[in-house]
Amino acid sequence: MLAESHISSSDRSAGLQDAPFKAAFQSLPMPVLIVDSHRKHAPVAFANRALLDLAGYSQEEMSGRGWHVLHMPGTGLDALNAIDAAMRAGEAFETGFTGRRKDGSAFTCILALSPVHDQAGQLRWVTLVLTGIGSVQDPARDGGETSLHLEEQVERRTQALQAAFDRRTALLHEVEHRIKNTLQMTASLVLLKARRLRDPEARKVLQETAERVSALSAAHRLLSAAGDGGRFNLKEFTSELAGELITALPKGQVDLDLAIQPLGVPASKATALALLLNELVGNAVKHAFPNGRRGRLTIEIGRTENGLKIAVDDDGVGLDHAPPAEGSFGKTLITMLVQQLKGQLTWRDQKPGTRAEIVMPVDAQEMKFE
Ligand SMILES: Nc1ncnc2c1ncn2[C@@H]1O[C@H](COP(=O)(O)OP(=O)(O)OP(=O)(O)O)[C@@H](O)[C@H]1O
Ligand SMILES: [Mg+2]
Repeated sequence: MLAESHISSSDRSAGLQDAPFKAAFQSLPMPVLIVDSHRKHAPVAFANRALLDLAGYSQEEMSGRGWHVLHMPGTGLDALNAIDAAMRAGEAFETGFTGRRKDGSAFTCILALSPVHDQAGQLRWVTLVLTGIGSVQDPARDGGETSLHLEEQVERRTQALQAAFDRRTALLHEVEHRIKNTLQMTASLVLLKARRLRDPEARKVLQETAERVSALSAAHRLLSAAGDGGRFNLKEFTSELAGELITALPKGQVDLDLAIQPLGVPASKATALALLLNELVGNAVKHAFPNGRRGRLTIEIGRTENGLKIAVDDDGVGLDHAPPAEGSFGKTLITMLVQQLKGQLTWRDQKPGTRAEIVMPVDAQEMKFE
């Protein structure tokens, strides 16, 4: 704190520019300000070099301006009022203060106020000395930098997650591709063996086994190309499967009608769904249209309120047309798969034809609708 000092009234009339203490104040390393507390807004009468350097004003810009120009609006109003009160009362006072530079940036300091009295004891000037200058980051700029920093971090993190996701997807595709190849090879081996058998029944059993393995292989082929989180493209699979199975019948004998919503189901359900469709469509092709019977095979797949509905519908001879073949396994497999998928199965004898309808729960979030 500056010791209380005295200047003569002649100094006041001559102005502080000529005062002998000007050089002394000017050379002080700490910012010093002398204000005329008698006048409105307590204008600045003198500011030393350190203060001008700190605040960024020239002497001309500073002189005559109310000293509040150095106060950062919106900060320390109690301190500001206390300083003004001490000025009016001519009392020494010291407080923390947040100042504002010409460029709008803020600084903190300890502001010490010393009244200067003339020889008659009248208050003439007030000296303000600023010490302990500290910097305050500009809240707007700081916020901007912080949000920029956060944006960069989010961007980097997103890229890293995307890269990890891409690696995982590539790995899944590779695994699915290998499973597909293995199943394809298994089907080929079974078919090779079937061709070498003389017993037609044994050959048929092996051929049907190879067909089931092929259906699984097709499901894994689609999964190996699945773009989005490995979802199973039911529409593509069913269209391919039905198109392939129907080639067992003479061209034009049975019309194929597909009403399939484009949707992807979780990969975990792919195998069961692939086998299920293979059995249902395979049965219709194999049993519904004997002796060149003409007809229509319809496959409907779509969403229900809480899941998925699959219906395979034919206008063929009907389920009871012939007793089940010995050792038949397809319908049992269908029942097991529907149970595994936690669905419900109904068979309907349509006279003519058969309709198998399956309704199963699938979490809407797990399904993707294009
Ligand atoms: N869509 C259909 N139309 C007419 N008959 C059917 C139909 N689906 C099944 N069937 C009858 O039901 C029987 C049992 O079918 P299932 O699928 O269990 O055995 P499969 O097809 O004969 O033999 P597998 O499926 O084991 O190769 C069939 O033999 C057939 O008589
Ligand atoms: Mg069958």
